[in-house]
Amino acid sequence: MAIRNIREIGDEVLTKRCKEVKEMTPRTRELIEDMLETMYEAAGVGLAACQVGVLKRVVVIDTTGEDPHILINPRIVESSGEQTGQEGCLSVPGKTGVVTRPSYVKVAALDADMKPFELEGTELLARAICHELDHLDGHMYVEKVEGELMDAVYDEEDEE
Ligand code: NI
Repeated sequence: MAIRNIREIGDEVLTKRCKEVKEMTPRTRELIEDMLETMYEAAGVGLAACQVGVLKRVVVIDTTGEDPHILINPRIVESSGEQTGQEGCLSVPGKTGVVTRPSYVKVAALDADMKPFELEGTELLARAICHELDHLDGHMYVEKVEGELMDAVYDEEDEE
């Protein structure tokens, strides 16, 4: 396992559409392990593969620090409600902004063994799922910010 370099806003790789994962390979397993390690090291709650420069539809999310979710080829199959709150991104260090997201989402994905599963999330988990899935299509939360990007106050934000 290794910590990978997190790409920052302005890097072209963050604007590209990631490609479907067709089969699990040692290389992709290593990517997933590294993404988890990189996310925890950066104290983030989510990371998409493009953020470490790999254009694969792979996302890791852990909103509690003890419940890692690995989502391969994820897609939102249900969403409802609305929540408006602060969001951050490891690719936009030191900043935060207000974004409105669904308050509930259900996502269908493959796990690290390429087995299908569904994950439901509310509150921060719903927000993190939406944020990370946007990354897979080359979109970032800064496009959706209501008002201005603000300087983040550390220890009070949720970076995704
Ligand atoms: Ni992000």
